[in-house]
Amino acid sequence: MKRRPMGLPMLLAALALLALPALQAAPPAPPPETLKAPGEFDAIADPAARSAAIFLEASKVIQSPRCLNCHPSARVPTQGENLHTHVPYLQAGQSGKGLPGLRCTACHQAANVSTQGASIASIPGHPAWHLAPASMAWQGRSLAEICKQIKDPALNGGMNLEKIHKHMADDPLVGWAWHPGEGRKPAPGTQKEFGRLIQAWIATGAACPGGAERVSR
Ligand code: HEC
Ligand code: HEC
Repeated sequence: MKRRPMGLPMLLAALALLALPALQAAPPAPPPETLKAPGEFDAIADPAARSAAIFLEASKVIQSPRCLNCHPSARVPTQGENLHTHVPYLQAGQSGKGLPGLRCTACHQAANVSTQGASIASIPGHPAWHLAPASMAWQGRSLAEICKQIKDPALNGGMNLEKIHKHMADDPLVGWAWHPGEGRKPAPGTQKEFGRLIQAWIATGAACPGGAERVSR
């Protein structure tokens, strides 16, 4: 018996069935996290309380995995959303750039590199890729501790508040956190919005939240 060729309606139905798993495999992307504008804190009359509330909003960025992974408590970077120890395990050393033989730049190039289908979607990159110094460790510290530390020129690399603002608002290594490459969640909002919050925090006296919102992951 001769096989009849598949009719068009049958063909379309078969194609729809084939496409079904692909459609199911792509879950809707979660909405990006946003930042409030400084003006949204105007209702808090007490300047110190307003300042601390603004810093708390900025901490959505400061305590995001993108920043924390480069500000660990030991001289070893961490990775991913859960801040796991860097794979491969390596020592960043005093310089933050790795030990001779395994420098960060052996893998981290000047820009993010897509790994096209490998288990890791991309390798982060920036020309100045290195670990924050030990005095700027944030992981395992409360937000109040991080806040005090950021303001302390003895710990923050000799920066006054104006320079701290500039660093947060304009530094391209900080800016990587909003363009972290495929497979990584960007920091909330934009670097510009974050810069405005830091500016407003400084303008209201750069007060620190008093609570013990500890970053423990
Ligand atoms: C042998 C290659 C290699 C070397 C050397 C290396 N890295 Fe990585 N690093 C990677 C890869 C690959 C990833 C991405 C892993 C992933 O997304 O799961 C990564 C991710 C990271 C992340 C996490 C980014 C994030 O937010 O998820 C940080 C931070 C990091 N590296 C810092 C460093 C520092 C600092 C050095 C040098 C002291 C360094 N790495 C050296 C390969 C390397
Ligand atoms: C690739 C690693 C890396 C990432 C990612 C990173 N930093 Fe840093 N950070 C550093 C290094 C290194 C320094 C030391 C200053 C320098 O060399 O630029 C630093 C210093 C700082 C300082 C100086 C004061 C202090 O006490 O820490 C601030 C503030 C800061 N970073 C904010 C951030 C924020 C906010 C993010 C995320 C949006 C971030 N950093 C992401 C590496 C990183």
